[in-house]
Amino acid sequence: MTLHTPIRACLFDLDGVLVDTAKYHYLAWKRLAGELGFEFTEQDNERLKGVSRMASLDILLSIGGISPDDDTRLALAEKKNGWYVDYITRMDESEILPGALDFLKELKAGGMLVALGSASKNAMTILNNTKLAPYFDAIVDGTKTVSAKPDPEVFLLGAQELGVDPAACVVFEDAEAGIEAAIRAGMRSIGVGSPATLGRAGAVVSSLREMSLRRLEKIFSSR
Ligand code: BG6
Ligand code: MG
Repeated sequence: MTLHTPIRACLFDLDGVLVDTAKYHYLAWKRLAGELGFEFTEQDNERLKGVSRMASLDILLSIGGISPDDDTRLALAEKKNGWYVDYITRMDESEILPGALDFLKELKAGGMLVALGSASKNAMTILNNTKLAPYFDAIVDGTKTVSAKPDPEVFLLGAQELGVDPAACVVFEDAEAGIEAAIRAGMRSIGVGSPATLGRAGAVVSSLREMSLRRLEKIFSSR
């Protein structure tokens, strides 16, 4: 990576960075575990963040000590998704995380390109319901990718759709796998959450409320 390439684009993860959907994923997975006859805790749920739907299901099933055949696995993932979709179809702007909207507005006003890089196949529903969709110049979600984070595919596709070199991109992520994906893509990154899990990011903030264009430039001015 060229050290002083100016930043031209910001790529955002969705769940846990822009919107508070982790609680809905948790409720739906917990309900599925309950139907299958085992407990699923909030701590267990941490392992599912940033992970694709089928990989999440496999983690959940391993917690329950169950290994069903592929057809059953697909049916279980669909069942969970049905419950999750019930939650997100009722979402509105009030579930945008603190600071996210102001930061997106500032980025757009400052001429920065903005892309979404999410593992979710439900991203469009969420972006439309929260009215966030118009802020994005490119949207790459789980319907467009083959490989899940930590594979860099989702972010590389985002940069490609924006027509920007990866070295000029900054990724905002709340999952360790997402920071790893950004690093593998040759991009800079900012972790949104705890330094304990996001320590490999260029910087960590507790929420986007701490972000501004000025802060962004300051963080990377010497790296
Ligand atoms: C990620 C979430 O953004 O999307 C994961 O952090 C989720 O928890 C994944 O499993 C896939 O989401 P969906 O909506 O396609 O099931
Ligand atoms: Mg996330």
